[in-house]
Amino acid sequence: MSFNNNKQHGLDPALIPRHVAIIMDGNGRWAKKRALNRIRGHEKGLEAVRAIVRVCRELKILVLTLYAFSTENWQRPAAEIAGLMRLLKKFLVQERAELVESNIRLSVIGQPDRLPDNVQKALRQTMDATAQNDGSILNLALSYGGRTEIVEMVRSVAGKVAHGKIRTQDINEALVESHLYTKGIPELDLLIRTSGEMRISNFLLWQLAYAEIFVTPTLWPDFSADEFIDILKQFQLRDRRFGKVLP
Ligand code: IPE
Ligand code: IPE
Ligand code: MG
Repeated sequence: MSFNNNKQHGLDPALIPRHVAIIMDGNGRWAKKRALNRIRGHEKGLEAVRAIVRVCRELKILVLTLYAFSTENWQRPAAEIAGLMRLLKKFLVQERAELVESNIRLSVIGQPDRLPDNVQKALRQTMDATAQNDGSILNLALSYGGRTEIVEMVRSVAGKVAHGKIRTQDINEALVESHLYTKGIPELDLLIRTSGEMRISNFLLWQLAYAEIFVTPTLWPDFSADEFIDILKQFQLRDRRFGKVLP
């Protein structure tokens, strides 16, 4: 079934990325162009989230990581943060049934304990409701910062060394990885950033080591399943050399 679907989209089923991450940028600009409040842009952006979650499931992409709120985004005006938190909670409640039905497990990276209590509660409920799902993972980066993730990893590894649980010489890439928020999640294959900015904005600093990067000028609320599939087609044409010389 998935084979046929993938063929329909002109994609090679053998080269479907396992883990795709998206920096969903441009909601504010989308609203500004229409002389609307920035929150309206975030609302519209939520529709794009739904469409991309669906197409990822259809294409059997194992993990979709969405950058929804960064550690730096706490410095935005209180009203915008409140609007974003309201929309996040709405998403977590409204999508619960569809996620369960679609066999998608919700997971989170970042510092969810910094979110307002009502959002934390909705998050926990949706994570619990989908905990047994084993089809794919929707991974939300919430109050996420790549530098904070690395600091927390160092703290945890250093604590174990101090308590004699591991020796300094046991620290290697696999051990570091097992102390990151993304532990157990497949290697990142593809990063997409919408709305044209050529930067990482503190996202998945360690995990990006060998990901393919695509930046599209499309603002996030205008991003569609068709454009996503188009990017996957380009991804499938890339030579991923991982530092080696291809035969
Ligand atoms: C991305 O859109 C959403 C979040 C960061 C939460 P922005 O709000 O950053 O939109 P622009 O970059 O101002 O257009
Ligand atoms: C990155 O977008 C964060 C999210 C998409 C959640 P920002 O709009 O916050 O990043 P900058 O300010 O352009 O670097
Ligand atoms: Mg932005």
